Amino acid sequence: MTLAPSPADLSAALALLRAGELVGIPTETVYGLAADASQDAAVAKIFAAKGRPNDHPVIVHIAGVAQLADWAQNIPDSAYQLAEAFWPGPLTLILERQAHVSDAVTGGQDTVGLRAPAHPITHELLLQFGGGLAAPSANQFGHVSPTTAEHVRHEFSTEQVRLILDGGACDVGVESTIVSLVGNQAKLLRPGGISRAAIEAVLGHAIEHHSTSSTAKQRASGLLDSHYAPRTPLITGPLASMQQLAATESANGKKVVLLTSHIQDHAPYTEQAMPNNPADYAQQIYATLRQLDRQGYDQLLLVTPPEGAEWLAIHDRLNRAAHKKINA
Ligand code: TXA
Ligand code: MG
Repeated sequence: MTLAPSPADLSAALALLRAGELVGIPTETVYGLAADASQDAAVAKIFAAKGRPNDHPVIVHIAGVAQLADWAQNIPDSAYQLAEAFWPGPLTLILERQAHVSDAVTGGQDTVGLRAPAHPITHELLLQFGGGLAAPSANQFGHVSPTTAEHVRHEFSTEQVRLILDGGACDVGVESTIVSLVGNQAKLLRPGGISRAAIEAVLGHAIEHHSTSSTAKQRASGLLDSHYAPRTPLITGPLASMQQLAATESANGKKVVLLTSHIQDHAPYTEQAMPNNPADYAQQIYATLRQLDRQGYDQLLLVTPPEGAEWLAIHDRLNRAAHKKINA
């Protein structure tokens, strides 16, 4: 696995981006599908390749806090505090956009999402590029996000995406935390790689979690109910119910797999061991769902992870990925 792409790969990526083409880029969260954020025709190719509705805004990726004012205006101190604390890293800030930031990027809103990713390859790419890279996760609309270069290759043809920079498996594995700093209150729009508690500690006050309002649903595709989903039906629920369901379904001749951190040695169905700590779980969940999705199961049965703040981003994604949820 190429963890350091050659200078030739980086130059090829820069040339493609400047020519208005798409490039797959590694980040510490998930892989992105990048286009020059200043070229509307290039950004339009992202939406076409993903099959994504045009009014969904995309995050603009920048090298660091020095580029914040290139894209945002009336930037509150809190934005600088959070950027200094967490960039480069898995935090996206929603701010008032500069007038030049196009509707293609913002989905017609007067705000822009900005993030400085921590992956060294993409950080270097952004430094050399100088501008901003519009990049959603590099997956078909609604599908599981990619955490390896190979996952990205499975999602798009070579005509759609000529080059994917291979930066290995993503460290964090779930998308960035999105915080809106527009208006007079900070709001958590999507839980992710940086915990809410860490953000509140920097800001010195509590923030609201706002993922369920209908306007947020319309505007933020990661907030739609069916998202991050494998093609195979995914059912989630508590351990005992899931074990029982797995036994019944397999007795009925269904090919099922149980994703759980409580492996039983003699289960009458296939088990997939899941980590019992949230960081490892997040790092592996998308790759595991993709891998199982290719194995011809009738159903993927997943034991809901523990409650607790450190599992928030994982619960959020699993809730949206599940086709059916069984309660205790
Ligand atoms: O970790 C990540 O954030 C990854 C990597 C590639 O950086 N990107 C990512 O992009 O998850 P995407 O497009 O799959 O999800 C970005 C979310 C979407 O829900 C989008 O609607 C929201 O960010 N978003 C972007 N700009 C916004 C804005 N101005 N206002 C509200 N939501 C915004
Ligand atoms: Mg996405």
